[in-house]
Amino acid sequence: MPDLSLNLASLPLANPTLTCSGTCGYAFEYADFMDLSQLGAFVTKSITREERVGNEPARIVEVRAGMLNAIGLANVGLDRFLAEKVPLLKRMPCPVIVNVAGHSFDDYVETCAAMDGLDCIAAVELNVSCPNVKDGLTFGTHPGRLKELTALVKKVLPHKPLIVKLSPNVEDITHTARATIEGGADILSLVNTFTAMAVDIWKKKPRLANVTGGLSGPAIKPIALHLVSRVYRTVAKSAGVPIIGMGGVQTWQDAVEFILAGSSAVAIGTALFVDPATPNKICQGLTEYLVKMRIDRLSDLVGALEMPGDQPAKSTYP
Ligand SMILES: Cc1cc2nc3c(=O)[nH]c(=O)nc-3n(C[C@H](O)[C@H](O)[C@H](O)COP(=O)(O)O)c2cc1C
Repeated sequence: MPDLSLNLASLPLANPTLTCSGTCGYAFEYADFMDLSQLGAFVTKSITREERVGNEPARIVEVRAGMLNAIGLANVGLDRFLAEKVPLLKRMPCPVIVNVAGHSFDDYVETCAAMDGLDCIAAVELNVSCPNVKDGLTFGTHPGRLKELTALVKKVLPHKPLIVKLSPNVEDITHTARATIEGGADILSLVNTFTAMAVDIWKKKPRLANVTGGLSGPAIKPIALHLVSRVYRTVAKSAGVPIIGMGGVQTWQDAVEFILAGSSAVAIGTALFVDPATPNKICQGLTEYLVKMRIDRLSDLVGALEMPGDQPAKSTYP
């Protein structure tokens, strides 16, 4: 049986499938639909220092090859998260990663500091790229500010790996990737959603109350894959910083593409709305693929994509 386990920086995972933040709440809402024990890790909805009700509806609409969301970071806030959700998270059968968002340096620092001492939390992921909140783009689009934010958070999080989740809504994602690595990020995750819109032609109005939202799902997969490949080859590989790839992952073949392009693990979001068992099915497909390819460890496949100009690698296919 091939080995699907991996180490993401200092974070050991039994397999490479994670949930995408914001697509299955704080975990237990999903317990009836998904075998949580089979996940590599569960990633929570973004938590902010203050409770947020989020945007007016409509805040989710389906589009041809994915969905648009403009949830506006609706969440219970730090105090209620600690009081109501953490006791439940202590019973989680897989590692839990808490996603943190904010509107100021202090917001991020205070919320992340509160996570550092919690044994039930394996790592923190920073959402610096939510395209739905007015000033949300600020941190994720300016390399200087992103580096400063990463460094500030890293200081208050000495006991947990820090994942920084990159926005695709930038001119050159390798600049923001490099900034987070210089700031001390242990792991990169990419990508968040792409700013987009949809129009109701009969009402002659935008379909989302917020006008724009984040596009996710199969529509973004080839772009997300390209961005992972670029970040891996340009900065992450040489820095030894692992990548969690995401954006339209729906099948085991999608996962293999992301892993070959340089992702150590993959996160699954929009596909969960179609089939909550997607992560389990991806693991099954990955195992069968590794057997066929005669590869013992999934980690041997990370970044194994052969690009024009590379030294040819020995084929493992029988
Ligand atoms: C309904 C919805 C809510 C989301 N909420 C968050 C969030 O709170 N924080 C965050 O970092 N990303 C959030 N995302 C982005 C996802 O985590 C992920 O980066 C993106 O959807 C791409 O993956 P996918 O195509 O597999 O969904 C959300 C996505 C969706 C569809």
